[in-house]
Amino acid sequence: MEHQQLKPFPKDFLWGSASAAYQIEGAPFEDGKKASVWDNFVRIPGKTFKGTNGDIAVDHYHRYKEDVALMKEMGLKSYRFSIAWSRVLPDGRGQVNEAGLKFYEDLIDTLLLNGIEPIVTLYHWDLPQALQDLYGGWESREIIADFVNYAAVLFDAFRGKVKYWVSLNEQNVFTNQGWAIATHPPGKKNLKLFYQVNHHANLVNAAVINKFHDLKMPGQIGPSFAYTPQYALDSDPMNVLAAENAEEMYSHFWMDVYLYGEYPIVAMNRLREQGLAPEFEAGDAALLKSAHPDFLGVNYYQSATNAWNPIEGGVGATGFNTTGKKGTTKESGVPGLHKKVQNPFVDRTNWDWEIDPEGLRIALRRITSRYRIPIMITENGLGEYDQLIEGEVHDDYRIAYLESHVKAIKEAISDGATVIGYHTWSYTDLLSWLNGYQKRYGFVYVDQDETMKGSLKRIPKASYYWYQHVIKTNADEI
Ligand code: NOJ
Repeated sequence: MEHQQLKPFPKDFLWGSASAAYQIEGAPFEDGKKASVWDNFVRIPGKTFKGTNGDIAVDHYHRYKEDVALMKEMGLKSYRFSIAWSRVLPDGRGQVNEAGLKFYEDLIDTLLLNGIEPIVTLYHWDLPQALQDLYGGWESREIIADFVNYAAVLFDAFRGKVKYWVSLNEQNVFTNQGWAIATHPPGKKNLKLFYQVNHHANLVNAAVINKFHDLKMPGQIGPSFAYTPQYALDSDPMNVLAAENAEEMYSHFWMDVYLYGEYPIVAMNRLREQGLAPEFEAGDAALLKSAHPDFLGVNYYQSATNAWNPIEGGVGATGFNTTGKKGTTKESGVPGLHKKVQNPFVDRTNWDWEIDPEGLRIALRRITSRYRIPIMITENGLGEYDQLIEGEVHDDYRIAYLESHVKAIKEAISDGATVIGYHTWSYTDLLSWLNGYQKRYGFVYVDQDETMKGSLKRIPKASYYWYQHVIKTNADEI
């Protein structure tokens, strides 16, 4: 659909940027914090690029004031960050660590003082190691009560100050990587367990949303979903079917539970046939039905393209597509379901992620049609090798990427989608979970490499000034 004129962004649109605790804070054992599963996983040889870890990260724990000052200068309207559970409750349950809570209180107060809306993610993958040791973390239903208790501590502490809360970040990614393809902690490959763990995460998500609403918290809460809209390679009906299979298994399988409170029929039917369906206990179905997120958070990076993949002689890897350096992506797929193929119409980043701004418009429209829910874009961005040359970073490629995505959002709003904010990934450069510090996403360059020898000096990139202008003009020129 072409519009004669695009609608402007709403006046109170949240022009923001995002981060996650483990990727920026450092100070893993300071002021009473105890280990998360990531603090330990990165120490297993071979798990991360050159053994990089978040021990220092970008030292945000000690430099948050400087980071917020740069946000203020940029004119940022909102900042999405996560809270490290084991900073607040070092053992995951029990005694609250006041010093840990104080760090977040100071950060939130500093943001508010500078007119920046804090958006808090309750869980961005750094489970307290103590809970992993105690009962296997997400593998046990015990996590439901512990998570709600943890969230309640934060709800109580930041009531009235924090208006937007993200329950779980990319549940589809952390469960898949942790239990299906073993690239994240706890590093297991067990599909039955993966679906069960994911079911527990669904219960946690529902329970914490209900808790928020029961407490009559002022504000809104929703999960952040990593949405990769699935395309068919062409109009061969078998390829179209493959794309629908992928959308069902990788998108509706999560979003339907969040927004309809039920797993989608075709996906569950397949999982039952294969003996992989999650086990329900009494009360699960009712709990899932009872929770109503106020918005859906969407993390959008790319689309995916599918072709048919027969059971006999098909391409066999399970789980999601893996990505590597440009040109190295292996063919992946699930026999009888789909296989992932390269989209001939889009370009790729140096990390082989497809660059598809139209895909964001498609994503926002699909969500709007199927679920009719306000959307907060909680992540979108470009990971690249940036070069610091004579004290400057000219990341024109990032500006082009972000500008095309902002345009796509404007188109989607004109189509009728309700979008309440846009958060680029990321604000400063930060630790890439598996790729160290070579893959950068930020508006603000941080001077360091895998050896952690740099000064950690903050240097605004060209994209920083570009976004400053976008915010000031409410993207009127895009
Ligand atoms: C997804 C995650 O939420 C974030 O932690 C990660 O660094 C980015 N996207 C890039 O992969």
